[in-house]
Amino acid sequence: MPLAIGIHDLSFATGEFVLPHTALAAHNGTEIGKYHAGIGQESMSVPAADEDIVTLAATAAAPIVARHGSDRIRTVVLATESSIDQAKSAGVYVHSLLGLPSATRVVELKQACYGATAGLQFAIGLVQRDPAQQVLVIASDVSKYDLDSPGEATQGAAAVAMLVGADPGLVRIEDPSGLFTVDVMDFWRPNYRTTALVDGQESIGAYLQAVEGAWKDYSERGGHSLEQFAAFCYHQPFTKMAHKAHRHLLNYCSHDIHHDDVTRAVGRTTAYNRVIGNSYTASVYLGLAALLDQADDLTGERIGFLSYGSGSVAEFFGGIVVAGYRDRLRTAANIEAVSRRRPIDYAGYRELHEWAFPADGGDHSTPQQTTGPFRLSGISGHKRLYRAC
Ligand code: CAA
Repeated sequence: MPLAIGIHDLSFATGEFVLPHTALAAHNGTEIGKYHAGIGQESMSVPAADEDIVTLAATAAAPIVARHGSDRIRTVVLATESSIDQAKSAGVYVHSLLGLPSATRVVELKQACYGATAGLQFAIGLVQRDPAQQVLVIASDVSKYDLDSPGEATQGAAAVAMLVGADPGLVRIEDPSGLFTVDVMDFWRPNYRTTALVDGQESIGAYLQAVEGAWKDYSERGGHSLEQFAAFCYHQPFTKMAHKAHRHLLNYCSHDIHHDDVTRAVGRTTAYNRVIGNSYTASVYLGLAALLDQADDLTGERIGFLSYGSGSVAEFFGGIVVAGYRDRLRTAANIEAVSRRRPIDYAGYRELHEWAFPADGGDHSTPQQTTGPFRLSGISGHKRLYRAC
């Protein structure tokens, strides 16, 4: 019997502030129905000036280390597309903030929003080789587009931390995976830019093409049929995209498409993404958190995962929800992470959007804004300074 490996624990964190889409709509004159119904977004998380992917990642992972200890963690994989350094892994700062053992390998992964799924699959390989070890996989991103651009309404920020190991407590990840890669310029961020560039309609088409491609490969490798899945967690740049993607998959598989079938398959995965916004690498796993927190008992049920990263790479795979998972959920903490955010007005959001350290690398401190457990306190001699609060 193959070793059961998968997600043993999952915890997430999001930014200090929240901007409701009503405030954005009032600023740019958009009919609010476009945001609430058209793209399926209600609000977006906005990080404080003293938060970034490192503080979000450490905040997400700290409860996992508190619950399980760090003795068995031999590897930390941090996936992000909003990296803060071209050389040093953000994971090394997180490793330090969490006080993890020095006998740990730490690495950063990038392929747009897909990176955390690569991290999860790499983790499974490592655990297969040494079933005693656990791997901390963290997806952490701040999604940022130009002010007054179409992408602005889909911004957000969050980190999801997952402990991957043998005999998992939440979801056992299955073989096979369906894979798809094609060179496409739908969304990208050159090194000299802090905001992403995107061809919106092209990106939706590229995502749907990748859904088809990943599913085709999954099916050809002997994967399960659509009917054998209880729900589907899609990457959610905006929650309506999960509905579009599932409708597309049903159509591709020549299924009759009923609105209720699509809602049943993806509706329970959207609650956190709808109020947090796009969290890039974290988004598909925020979908899993919402599903596990909100659905009736899913024990023994199969969940489908479709991870998409622009550029583009996609992977489809299944996972079985394991017995006893409900005792390990962090539902109250997850709801608190969302509800504790402080509302910010449009002017405050705009100021934070434009906030950046001067490029001189000199000594600069950040305003004390976050009420979270970790903060970016400043920069000195081109070195970012982090501390636990
Ligand atoms: N009431 C209800 N619905 C309304 C409405 C109203 N008053 N006004 C418009 N709508 C609907 C539209 O009909 C449309 O729905 P459909 O797509 O179902 O037809 C929806 O609202 C959006 O309207 P538009 O297409 O006109 O909106 P837009 O031109 O502003 O662009 C967007 C939308 C392309 C998603 C844009 O926000 C964007 O560029 N976002 C960033 C890119 C992105 O998220 N791409 C997704 C795939 S790429 C990916 O997944 C990777 C990643 O994370 C970035």
